[in-house]
Amino acid sequence: MSSVLALDNITKSFPSPSGGRIEILSGVSISLEKGEIVSIIGQSGSGKSTLLSIAALLMSPDSGSVRYSGKESTGMSERELQAIRASSIGFIFQSSSLLSDFSALENTAMPLMIQGKKRKAAMAEAESFLALVGLQDRAGHRPSELSGGERQRAAIARALAGNPLVVFADEPTGSLDEKSAALTEEILFSSVRNTNHSMLLVTHNREFARKADRMLELREGILQDV
Ligand SMILES: Nc1ncnc2c1ncn2[C@@H]1O[C@H](COP(=O)(O)OP(=O)(O)OP(=O)(O)O)[C@@H](O)[C@H]1O
Ligand SMILES: [Mg+2]
Repeated sequence: MSSVLALDNITKSFPSPSGGRIEILSGVSISLEKGEIVSIIGQSGSGKSTLLSIAALLMSPDSGSVRYSGKESTGMSERELQAIRASSIGFIFQSSSLLSDFSALENTAMPLMIQGKKRKAAMAEAESFLALVGLQDRAGHRPSELSGGERQRAAIARALAGNPLVVFADEPTGSLDEKSAALTEEILFSSVRNTNHSMLLVTHNREFARKADRMLELREGILQDV
């Protein structure tokens, strides 16, 4: 079976203030199967967000390959990359990236409309994703009328609504207090499992990370077993 996502020997360096370059990723390889959840831990600055950005086609690597369902993305035009992002990728950031002028329901329906669904059908489908994260009673609220935890739950609903090949979550509960983080984590895992999505999750929280099928640590530029 081909992996939904395969990263092979990814390297990435950034210019350092002193004029040289700092290598952040030194040959990262990972593959994700359908329905699999993989967590990545690592110290601050170890390159976790960089790795996620590359995997989600938001940044290009210096070398190595990123393949969705076996299809190589290196060398694709921006237009082709955009099409893969819209069809295959759901991203949940540390704090909400919901559009402030739209309701929770409209935000959740957005990926479906981008994929070409009519507004009415997209909104109806989005309702079931809001229900999945327990937000059916907040459908009409704008982001400013939601709590921090509710905003993250809406972001989870939005990420899943587009039925992506891979969900990426970069510290999705990092902005929440302990209690709200625990509830949001539980909802994230159950909703991703229930919909049989694949997820690459970055977190500082080992307890949270252990709930994944596999847990890896990014250390010295490569992914290592914990
Ligand atoms: N655009 C950039 N230009 C220069 N350096 C960068 C850039 N983006 C990231 N870096 C550097 O790369 C390193 C890795 O950053 P990254 O954000 O991937 O770390 P992280 O593991 O996600 O950290 P955290 O846990 O704090 O979120 C850091 O040292 C950072 O300063
Ligand atoms: Mg980060």
